[in-house]
Amino acid sequence: MQEQVTVLYTADDIRERVGALGAGITREYAGREPVLISVLKGGAMFHADLLRAVDLHASVDFMSISSYGEGSSGVVRIMKDLDRDIGGRHVIVVEDIVDTGLTLTYLLSALRSREPASLEVCALLDKSVRRITPLDIRFRGFDCPDKFVLGYGLDFDEIYRNLPFIVAVEDVDALSDDPRAFVSLLGPAGDPYR
Ligand code: IMP
Ligand code: MG
Repeated sequence: MQEQVTVLYTADDIRERVGALGAGITREYAGREPVLISVLKGGAMFHADLLRAVDLHASVDFMSISSYGEGSSGVVRIMKDLDRDIGGRHVIVVEDIVDTGLTLTYLLSALRSREPASLEVCALLDKSVRRITPLDIRFRGFDCPDKFVLGYGLDFDEIYRNLPFIVAVEDVDALSDDPRAFVSLLGPAGDPYR
């Protein structure tokens, strides 16, 4: 089982990058009060950690979207909308991963129509080689290889989000055949990747 996944980013790698992204946001938004929007569910863990690395009067809001049908068509439905109006606010959309970019393109156009003062993206992972719609990702954690990844918010069929590190799945068919077979990932707390 071990050889079917490769650790891409350890918990330490993630902590370090998230700290740097938070410092970057703190610098760029000095004197302003940005709203950090978490895109549920995958982005929630990153959002929570990023927020603690931002040294500003930042506020938060949450949004939940779902794609219609299988895979990324770019047509998404807003399942839970923001609580507050973002008109005139400095908005940062916090995403776990940008793959084709279709989901985020749709989301950004929906948010732009609400006339925020500014609208930027902070994504932990950028699978840039897969991009279909060009997108400007202002704050980016890692340029991610074109592999299916799991952990730190990213799921397969709603599981593995709780891994504190990120792995690339080498055998996606094996994962599809038996999603719960990758139990070796759920190691002890003393695991070196945590
Ligand atoms: P996009 O519209 O193709 O950019 O899709 C983005 C969404 O697809 C992300 O927010 C994730 O929910 C999901 N996604 C894309 N790649 C992966 C992956 O490697 N692992 C888990 N989820 C992924
Ligand atoms: Mg997502």
